Amino acid sequence: MATLTRVCGIVGYVGHRQALDVVLDGLRRLEYRGYDSAGVAMLDGAGGLAVERAAGALSNLEGKLAGQDGSRFTATSGMGHTRWATHGAPTDRNAHPHRDAAGKVAVVHNGIIENFAALRAELETSGVEMASETDTETAAHLVAAAYASGPTAGELTASVCAVARRLEGAFTLLVTHADEPDKIVAARRSSPLVVGVGDGENFLASDVAAFIEHTRDAVELGQDQVVTIDRGGYRVTDFDGAEVQAKPFTVDWDLSAAEKGGHDYFMLKEIEEQPEALENTLRGHFVNGGIVLDEQRMTEQDLRDIDKVFVVACGTAYHSGLLAKYAIEHWCRIPVEVELASEFRYRDPVLGRDTLVVAISQSGETADTLEAVRHARTQRARVLAICNTNGAQIPRESDAVLYTHAGPEIGVAATKTFLAQITANYLVGLALAQARGTKYSDEVAREFEELAAMPQAVRQTLSTVDQVRTLGRELADSKAVLFLGRHVGYPVALEGALKLKELAYMHAEGFAAGELKHGPIALIEDRLPVVVVMPSAKGRALLHSKMLSNIREIQARGARTVVIAEEGDEAVRPFADELIEIPAVATLLQPLVSTVPLQVLAAEIARARGYDVDKPRNLAKSVTVE
Ligand code: M6R
Repeated sequence: MATLTRVCGIVGYVGHRQALDVVLDGLRRLEYRGYDSAGVAMLDGAGGLAVERAAGALSNLEGKLAGQDGSRFTATSGMGHTRWATHGAPTDRNAHPHRDAAGKVAVVHNGIIENFAALRAELETSGVEMASETDTETAAHLVAAAYASGPTAGELTASVCAVARRLEGAFTLLVTHADEPDKIVAARRSSPLVVGVGDGENFLASDVAAFIEHTRDAVELGQDQVVTIDRGGYRVTDFDGAEVQAKPFTVDWDLSAAEKGGHDYFMLKEIEEQPEALENTLRGHFVNGGIVLDEQRMTEQDLRDIDKVFVVACGTAYHSGLLAKYAIEHWCRIPVEVELASEFRYRDPVLGRDTLVVAISQSGETADTLEAVRHARTQRARVLAICNTNGAQIPRESDAVLYTHAGPEIGVAATKTFLAQITANYLVGLALAQARGTKYSDEVAREFEELAAMPQAVRQTLSTVDQVRTLGRELADSKAVLFLGRHVGYPVALEGALKLKELAYMHAEGFAAGELKHGPIALIEDRLPVVVVMPSAKGRALLHSKMLSNIREIQARGARTVVIAEEGDEAVRPFADELIEIPAVATLLQPLVSTVPLQVLAAEIARARGYDVDKPRNLAKSVTVE
């Protein structure tokens, strides 16, 4: 079976340092994008290319390189790759970089070349023997052929342009040629690629994290563009070779944000960073008494005319979207539908000029969400993106953008970006309410003040970490865990269950507590842990009393109850086998505090079961294919 390359980390370097060190450091920072195999390629000093590849984690590649003749890998330009494969075994043979038959061209790739079967057949007919099962290898042979003869002969950039024009699908390709030393050419379509601009050195990467140690000056590339880097600079063209002006930007976080900082795992650090993530998300979004977005290519009148909102997102971002519905409907009196991005365009949703589609994506490159955005735009709907990654594809294709500014999230499980997305959703809700006049400016200001108090409330919630960790170790041998919530506690229950599934590989389900007696209560058995997210006794008295009844029902059937409740909720205490107290906050804001113990619980259960919480099996941070 052919092997397609999906979500990967890519690094390229041309400069004055040892490329191997720079590339391996960069790959280490990108390993969250895939950890099925890894590889590097660079000039070998004898007119050819030195390539090494290894299946499995990056450490396997490092082990292989350590046992080698060091003189093969001393070049000052080179590139590398970490891979997350979905088809075919992640073997040494299928690992990137891939080469042409002469070993002069090396290619690393993220994405899928959709017409690779036809290209492969064409190459095989012309006598090329494939060394791997990958789609990527076809690109190496095609570049070699374009470089060898015809109008692009001897021109690497022109050869890559010519090949890129023939490829279908989504791809970032980095290409090097032994005959054009100290140059890397990259092509991009619907797949991430940024340039890092240094002093006498330049970088290419899927994500700025790969080069942030060396430079914060970056350049974002547009759709269907090719960039060539050498020591002296970079040059960007379209696929036809016409020069284009690329957009420079400065990365607004530094190396420490991409390091573990004394924590065993990035995820644990990222949980602790949540108060700052919220502060940074709020900063700059409330100016002169009003909510401001980061980018707005639609008018105030467009916002006023919105009569329907769809929220589209995947996974954790979808859970944050469920919360957007509560806020936007409540504040703006507009109907809101929340939809899994992967389902959205296939059911022909009713969209028009007055529909706002809010696309939520940490990475800004999730293929399902991107395609939902594209579908919405073909139907002339407006799109507002909530994103954590500057200049990613989803914000680029949207009419308005609110960045979450939560900083890099390396752990595959979303934590701080979930809280930042909830906050951003509420900012969008307030912006709409303000534009449509459903809230006076003093009311908007009051809501913002409450949001501004949340970093402190999250800080206070972090004091429960030790208690939750102890509990996590006790629950590590459970067969399953259920999560119950009502109202805004329901998406929190779903998120708690998702975290546990993805990190601890444990069966976990989140339910709206009212649904219990319609089926799920049959799952309750002796000592089954059930985590209950309790509504506020003061803010939501009716829901609180209904939830108390639900807890009694499950306790009577033997469940072990773990209750997350507001401080001072004495009514629930007798029914909680374990009570985790969170600060009392406004109803809509409770998810910002009630989620925190659930993140810690999932991480601790996973650790107690011996799993790497930063790199759960089978997953990658960004899913760039549908
Ligand atoms: O980058 P995105 O926010 O678009 O990613 C969406 C989901 O893939 C993501 O939230 C995923 O569910 C996380 N692994 C959850 O922890």
